[in-house]
Parts: sequence; C-alpha cells; structure tokens
Amino acid sequence: MTSSKIIDALNLQLNKEMFSSYLYLSMSAYFDNKNLAGMSQWMKLQSQEEYAHAMKFYDFILRLGGKVKLTSIDDPQTDWDSAQKVFEDSLHHEKFISKSIHELMDLATEEKDHPTKSFLQWFVDEQVEEEDTVQQIVDNFDLIGDSKGGLFMLDRELGSRSAAGEAE
Ligand SMILES: [Fe+2]
Ligand SMILES: [Fe+2]
Repeated sequence: MTSSKIIDALNLQLNKEMFSSYLYLSMSAYFDNKNLAGMSQWMKLQSQEEYAHAMKFYDFILRLGGKVKLTSIDDPQTDWDSAQKVFEDSLHHEKFISKSIHELMDLATEEKDHPTKSFLQWFVDEQVEEEDTVQQIVDNFDLIGDSKGGLFMLDRELGSRSAAGEAE
C-alpha cells in the first residue's frame, strides 16, 4: 500500500515536470523570435520530453490506485539576455529537478516503498543524462564566445536533434 505522503510527493513532481515542459516551450518561442530555428526546435523537443516525464508520473500514480491531482502551473520566464543564458537557466533548472527526484527517492527509501524506488530509478539515471547534455551545450557556448559564425553553427547542430535524440 502506497502512503498518501508518497502519492502527494508524486503529484508534486508531476507538476514540476509539467512546469519543465512549459519552461522549455517558452524557451523555444524565445529562440524562434530570435531566428535561432535550430535551438527553437531543440527546446520544443525538450518540452515534449518533459511532458512525457509528467505522463510517466500520471500513469504511475493511477497504477498505484492513487488520485491524480493536477494543480496550476507557474508562469515560465519569457525573456533572456542571450541564447547562452537560456541554456544556463536550463542547466540550473535540471539541477533543481535532479535534487527534487533525489528527495523523492529519499522519501521512498524512508517509507520502504520498493515499487516507487524502482519507478524513480529511471528518473535518477535520466537526470544524469539531461544534466550532461545541457552542460555540453553550455560548454559549447563558452568555446564560441562572441563569434556569430559559431552561434550559427551551434544553431544548425542543435537543429539536427531528432525526436528520438540523445536526451531521450
Ligand atoms: Fe523531466
Ligand atoms: Fe529534464
């Protein structure tokens, strides 16, 4: 039997994944307005992936016989100082999400809730991937500095990400 404490925490994480999807969609729109089509496409796929994460929580809560409680999603930021700043914020956000997943894992461990621990392990691994992927992009920005040509190339490269891409 899953405790109501766990169900509440899973619902909270569902909301955080929905916010992630919202935030990355907002970042995608920002890039589109800046004519950075590749980065816009990358963020749009990232947003879809976060929606899929939210749905994993949704399905898991229901499978446990728990109640899904959808709550309002915070307004995401809409403006940034630069393209690099967007990815830095994305990295910062992923670190926040990792911490949140780890806290959920700690709670499941305390409650001796093995099914929830097993479910969360996928997210623990996924967060390592996500942080690594975004960190690499931030590092690329550091390499290109103020180069317009570099920004153009990076936009091209990020635009080549497919739906089944590396941050899957
Ligand atoms: Fe996520
Ligand atoms: Fe993520």
